[in-house]
Amino acid sequence: MTQELRITRPDDWHLHLRDGDMLRAVLPETARHFGRAIIMPNLVPPVVTGAQAAAYRDRILAALPEGMTFEPLMTLYLTEDTDPEDVAAAHAAGLVKAVKLYPAGATTNSQSGVRDFDKVRPVLEKMAEIGLTLCTHGEVTDHAIDIFDREAVFIDRVLDPIRRATPGLRVVMEHITTRNAADYVRSQDRDLGATITTHHLIINRNHILAGGIKPHYYCLPVAKREEHRIALRQAATSGDARFFIGTDSAPHTDANKLLPCGCAGCFTATNTMALLAHVFEEDGALDKLEGFACKHGPAFYRLPENQDQITLVKQAEPVIFPEKIDTKDGPVTVFDPGFAVHWTVA
Ligand code: NCD
Ligand code: ZN
Repeated sequence: MTQELRITRPDDWHLHLRDGDMLRAVLPETARHFGRAIIMPNLVPPVVTGAQAAAYRDRILAALPEGMTFEPLMTLYLTEDTDPEDVAAAHAAGLVKAVKLYPAGATTNSQSGVRDFDKVRPVLEKMAEIGLTLCTHGEVTDHAIDIFDREAVFIDRVLDPIRRATPGLRVVMEHITTRNAADYVRSQDRDLGATITTHHLIINRNHILAGGIKPHYYCLPVAKREEHRIALRQAATSGDARFFIGTDSAPHTDANKLLPCGCAGCFTATNTMALLAHVFEEDGALDKLEGFACKHGPAFYRLPENQDQITLVKQAEPVIFPEKIDTKDGPVTVFDPGFAVHWTVA
């Protein structure tokens, strides 16, 4: 018995593609299903200027295999030296769709991020004026704050003050992991949205830490308690247009994950759509999947929805996904949800 679900082609509103050989290996995994993606700028060195974003965009398009279509939606990495006029020009040219705020030291390649939030006020004011979205990595970096509390503290100490000081600034809270974040989004106006990853709908912190340490489930922000995972599921499946998919698919080679100090990131590009179908079906919300994966994101970013469609198929036998993607730098492990999945993209 098969079941079919035809939906608008989805987009990914938070994606790491990297560069070079890694880019060539992972890009088809996203382009196979997704029409567009917001491309994270945390390369080494980061994508800071409009010129760097244009060059990175060209490298992504050059890496796209023959016959595949995909539109990278570029972002700029906000630094304390970012020039508001360069940001405005890159936005006016249609090149960038968002600016990414990384608190310095919060995550992979965030060393060039922001330490003193007052220093980026002129950029944020310019963005509010021109309607350019700010994407936030919402964690404080204060060592006195427990890592499981860093998102909630970021909302109080950094995000809410920035939003109060900058009326009209459009913000996407990226990869939210807590009930606190989902509640904050719901308590605010329509200038605030949030992305939720596939893996945060599936794992809680036990998956990382109980019964042996599982580096492939370690990402930032780190997965929280079960009550938070449930709150994220409720937000994603609610139909509320302020919540949309951003996979945060973040490839690292196994060699870099399986270290005494391993990298943060889950690689979910390959099986995200299948996993989302599973999750939404489990919650009796298959009718809400298209909103979350295909409609709410374009609406927030004021972009048209994709014109073509994909078909999700549920089959009787469990679907076998590749365990790893081969890259010239070594294998990248595909996120394993830990349960049988019967959905696939036709
Ligand atoms: C991301 C990466 O590897 O670039 N890692 C992650 O755990 N999500 C960075 C990020 O988005 O925090
Ligand atoms: Zn990310």
